[in-house]
Amino acid sequence: MTRQPTGPDAAPPDVMLALRTGTAGEHQELEDTLDLLDPALDAVRLAAVLARMHAFWVRAEDGLDTWARTHPGDAAAVDWAARRRAGLFAADLAALGGDPTAPAPVEVPAPASTDEALGAMYVLEGSTLGGVFIDRHLATLPGLAQAGPLTAFSPYGEQTGARWAAFRRAVRDHVARGGDPDALVAAARRTFRLMASWCADVQQGASGPASGPTTTRGGVPA
Ligand code: HEM
Repeated sequence: MTRQPTGPDAAPPDVMLALRTGTAGEHQELEDTLDLLDPALDAVRLAAVLARMHAFWVRAEDGLDTWARTHPGDAAAVDWAARRRAGLFAADLAALGGDPTAPAPVEVPAPASTDEALGAMYVLEGSTLGGVFIDRHLATLPGLAQAGPLTAFSPYGEQTGARWAAFRRAVRDHVARGGDPDALVAAARRTFRLMASWCADVQQGASGPASGPTTTRGGVPA
């Protein structure tokens, strides 16, 4: 990582860089747990992963909706209403023969502040970046062809970069107006860890977790 200049004229540390570096370990842990780039991934295990993700998104979005009701200006600034995607996970799960009508109960605390909301949303929105790679991989697996194209991993298509850029702008604006970057990073780490522990015992394929090469997140400008 490039060392940031210090001293009176130094620019404040960038919150997006802090989020990426501060959650790198948690991201890797979650990626290894889900193991979605496994060449032997089949429809049964993908459905098991999607069921966990669907349940998590339902609860996380409930909490963010609660926050949005009490902070409508902040929610509008980050375009929260257009970032919900639990319904897409439900549709993908149904396409794979799963039942999205009764998601397992997972406790995801509602954000207590806009700092916490944006930290949690960083995790949910950032997953659309890795989602592009996941979708590309799924398209190569003949065992998944009958499910048709899935939409939840990469919901924005060609708009992925633009939606991420808009999110980054909104987060930086929030911090410039007095938001607490440390609180954002702490909330993002909690969200990653909660999701990893919620998914920890998801059914593994024959090759087990963390098989094959892992990816790195180096390609996205912070
Ligand atoms: C298991 C499969 C996953 C893989 C293979 C994966 C892979 C990646 C990759 C390659 C990137 C960088 C994208 C790029 O350079 O264009 C990325 C970014 C990111 N992913 Fe994942 N990811 C996975 C799952 C997740 C999940 C489930 C979440 C959260 C729910 C998540 C959160 C993030 C975040 C927050 C970023 C943005 C990092 C930043 O630039 O600040 N990822 N992921």
